Amino acid sequence: MKKGTWVKRTLLAVLSAAFVLTAAGCGTPTGGGGGQAAEGEQIVLKFSHVTTPDSPKGKAAQKFAELAAQKTNNRVKVEVFPSSQLYGDKEEMEALQANNVQMVAPSVTKLVGFVPSFQIVDMPFLFNSRDAVLKFWDGELGKKLMQTLEPQGFLGLAMWENGFKNFTNNKHPLKRPEDFAGLKFRTQAGKVLEAQFKALGAGAATIPFGETYTALQQGTVDGQENTFNNIDTQKYAEVQKYLTVSQHGRLDYVVLVNKSFWDGLPDDIRTALSEAMQEATEYERQLAVELDQQSFENLKNAGMEVTELTEEDREAFRKAFEPVYEEFAEVIGREYIDGVKALK
Ligand code: LMR
Repeated sequence: MKKGTWVKRTLLAVLSAAFVLTAAGCGTPTGGGGGQAAEGEQIVLKFSHVTTPDSPKGKAAQKFAELAAQKTNNRVKVEVFPSSQLYGDKEEMEALQANNVQMVAPSVTKLVGFVPSFQIVDMPFLFNSRDAVLKFWDGELGKKLMQTLEPQGFLGLAMWENGFKNFTNNKHPLKRPEDFAGLKFRTQAGKVLEAQFKALGAGAATIPFGETYTALQQGTVDGQENTFNNIDTQKYAEVQKYLTVSQHGRLDYVVLVNKSFWDGLPDDIRTALSEAMQEATEYERQLAVELDQQSFENLKNAGMEVTELTEEDREAFRKAFEPVYEEFAEVIGREYIDGVKALK
């Protein structure tokens, strides 16, 4: 059995045992089952995610746990499960809906199965700058998009960022659209990413984050697209030789909480957790920028061969991606696309 599978099974067994004890009234702390903790009981909030503990998301989840404990005088205990230990990409959303975890922070792309408009982050070369990204998510359109998740039982508490995505592969340098022909790339999810690679004459396969290193190592796919920090912390440089600094799409996160759990919390606890989330968000966004740059240096030092794009190369990619806009502008919603285009 793979080590990750063993760890996951062991954790699940421990959690199930804890649930049985709690349900039988033998265990404390309690909570995590609707948030209606009795006076004096500790509320447990499980926060599951897929990146490493030293990624921006990993560090911010830990920071949120510390702040939550501080601001509630330890009435809330946030347990963080990183690196897909507890749930992978697909299972974490199901687990959130079932309230088996109370908080997750998936990449926005992975919400495509619930609301296709979240693929806005995948539209190639749509966001011009980090400022535009923050203005979008913190503005009316971003808030409206987050609210579309509420009927699914999720509440969006914050947007965390990771950065712009870049291409890696193990065959040859990728500088022009035609260099992609015949290669196969791992994608996170969704038809936009599939269409993006199709427009370049390449194939695409959706693979969970936790299985991507092995897929690259075994040659199931030739390449993938990700932020410098994910490429670095997942050690893809061990199995990918070429890095193209394309910055063609975004990788952002929505911090989601199970809505019934959240609504069931005592008012003072909810206020304290909202404050903790706000502080953790400021910390995360700052850290994401710093770690992005640091990781780029790490990747060069690890021996990746870096290809930079000229403005002319970028123009050639924009042209190649026109069919993606024709096909998906309506699916995502022109309001969102035009809204982003209007931002600097
Ligand atoms: C990916 O699957 O590549 C990313 O969404 C992982 C993450 O959470 O940053």
